[in-house]
Amino acid sequence: MAGLGMRAVRLLLASITIVCLLQAFAQPIVPALSLLTSGPNFNITDLVASFAAVGLSAKDMVALSGAHTIGKACCDTFLTRLTADADDPTALAAGYREFLSAQCSTGPATDVMIDLDVTTPVRFDNAYFSNLQQNLGLLHSDQVLYATAGSTRQQVTLYAHHQSAFFQDFAAAMIHMGNISPLTGSAQGEVRKVCGFVNA
Ligand code: HEM
Ligand SMILES: *[C@@H]1O[C@H](CO)[C@@H](O)[C@H](O)[C@H]1NC(C)=O
Repeated sequence: MAGLGMRAVRLLLASITIVCLLQAFAQPIVPALSLLTSGPNFNITDLVASFAAVGLSAKDMVALSGAHTIGKACCDTFLTRLTADADDPTALAAGYREFLSAQCSTGPATDVMIDLDVTTPVRFDNAYFSNLQQNLGLLHSDQVLYATAGSTRQQVTLYAHHQSAFFQDFAAAMIHMGNISPLTGSAQGEVRKVCGFVNA
């Protein structure tokens, strides 16, 4: 399939996943799509505000971002970082930038998929956070959690050293996320048997 078609399908599936994760089953898909298209370039202010808008704290936001310990992202979600100023605190580590530039030149930036956690891509652990300490965060929205001094940076440091603190806070934050506008009663919504489809 052509690059754009594949990209559209993947964006749709990814946004459905996020919509499902948020349990906002009756919400339109557009907000999730805009999180995927502009979200990766968000700064810390944008990130905190977008989570606050649905009642989630900055602490929840950092813990939930740890979900990027697994999964992949298309090159076009971080392409601007490959040519960014190397002095910027959010800059990619030099070797990682070279690796990504090489990977992303092997095909359309909408098709090539890169591990979000370069250290342990298929293990749910705290390596995502120790990666950030070494400027190995794939998305700009990942690296900003650590780039400036403050509470989010302290939280990243805590999780990098104490995996159990990450696991505990992640579980609590998933419950907070699951409690966003739950739809109850037969007239208002349904718990889907298959995440991406309305029940038959
Ligand atoms: C903090 C704001 C967030 C932003 C800006 C963001 C952005 C993204 C982007 C751009 C991708 C790659 C999509 C693609 O290229 O197709 C991605 C993938 C992913 N995200 Fe996030 N995300 C955020 C929060 C979350 C949260 C809260 C979770 C779950 C708790 C999550 C779980 C995932 C997973 C599992 C993947 C990999 C999907 C796959 O491998 O197909 N993300 N995210
Ligand atoms: C964050 O980005 C927004 C635009 O999305 C901008 O208005 C704001 O000044 C930026 N904040 C910081 C701290 O860079």
